[in-house]
Amino acid sequence: MTLSSSDRSTRSGVSPTLDLVHRPRRNRKNDWARRLVRENTLTVDDLIWPVFVMEGEKTRTEIPSMPGVERHTVDELVRSAEQAAKLGIPALALFPYVDPNLRDPDGSEALKSNNLICRALRAIKAEVPDIGLITDVALDPYTSHGHDGLLEDGRILNDETVDVLVRQALVQAEAGADVIAPSDMMDGRVGAIRAGLDDAGFQDVQIMSYAAKYASAFYGPFRDAIGTAKTLSGDKRTYQMDPANGLEALREAELDVNEGADMLMVKPGLPYLDIVWRLKETFGLPTFAYQVSGEYAMIEGAARNGWVDGERLMLESLTAFKRAGADGILTYFAPRVAALLNSGR
Ligand code: PBG
Repeated sequence: MTLSSSDRSTRSGVSPTLDLVHRPRRNRKNDWARRLVRENTLTVDDLIWPVFVMEGEKTRTEIPSMPGVERHTVDELVRSAEQAAKLGIPALALFPYVDPNLRDPDGSEALKSNNLICRALRAIKAEVPDIGLITDVALDPYTSHGHDGLLEDGRILNDETVDVLVRQALVQAEAGADVIAPSDMMDGRVGAIRAGLDDAGFQDVQIMSYAAKYASAFYGPFRDAIGTAKTLSGDKRTYQMDPANGLEALREAELDVNEGADMLMVKPGLPYLDIVWRLKETFGLPTFAYQVSGEYAMIEGAARNGWVDGERLMLESLTAFKRAGADGILTYFAPRVAALLNSGR
């Protein structure tokens, strides 16, 4: 059998030429071209570092479900804040591990002006005045039942909780918090906190609202870190959002915007990028995403097992937030990724 001419050219290794006008691969052909057309860039300015503080001195303890993340005593936290400021990280988000003896059903320790979080705020402000300090408003580190609000007959009381949250926000603002971040998901708390801050002369304290916070299994390791994993009774589904809902996030965010939120946050992060995108598109407010403890644990755990390239996955996951429209990311990788970005690689 004789070969036709086209058969012959293919078989002899001369590649056929498709008649294509568009060849998107041209813009990817080498590193300089890829850099030239890159749409989104992660920078150190995008990072907020969530940190855990505990009682004691000169001590750091590992959190087994968050390998590489430690709880710090206040003095050690000041050292870490210095290091973060040197790296150029704009802000820290502080979370306390409260001594179990100080937890009670009402979370009354949250309102003490000399509690752990307030002492940490003052210590960092005194020594590292130029780093932003964000504090969490919610009662879960302080309640014996591990819920974010007041519990009565198995129900979380909304309005009574909001009253307490306003007082918690004031205690934090007095101790030097720059940004109040309510993560409790009670209705009406942003407006109440705004009014409370303004009445007390804290007009300049910002509010970063956890506008869309889902009832998520991705928070597991965080609850180990602040010691609520074992004590939490039931779950948080009567106040945190249903992971099946997207439009509801728009309604939640709209309320917070109208109540005076300066910035919005979505949490968890990577599984909820559609929500980040929708909030940013709809409201145009500074919008943040929280790459939460379970997301960190999945990446870092797999990396430590050699199953994925941890460094690349860290960068890829954080860049994905930027692509989705996030102005910044709360991430436990903050110091590591900042060092990497600063090294120019
Ligand atoms: C609680 C709070 C949680 C996180 C931040 N603030 C956990 C929860 O709602 O149970 C989770 C953060 C993380 O998982 O990294 N107010």
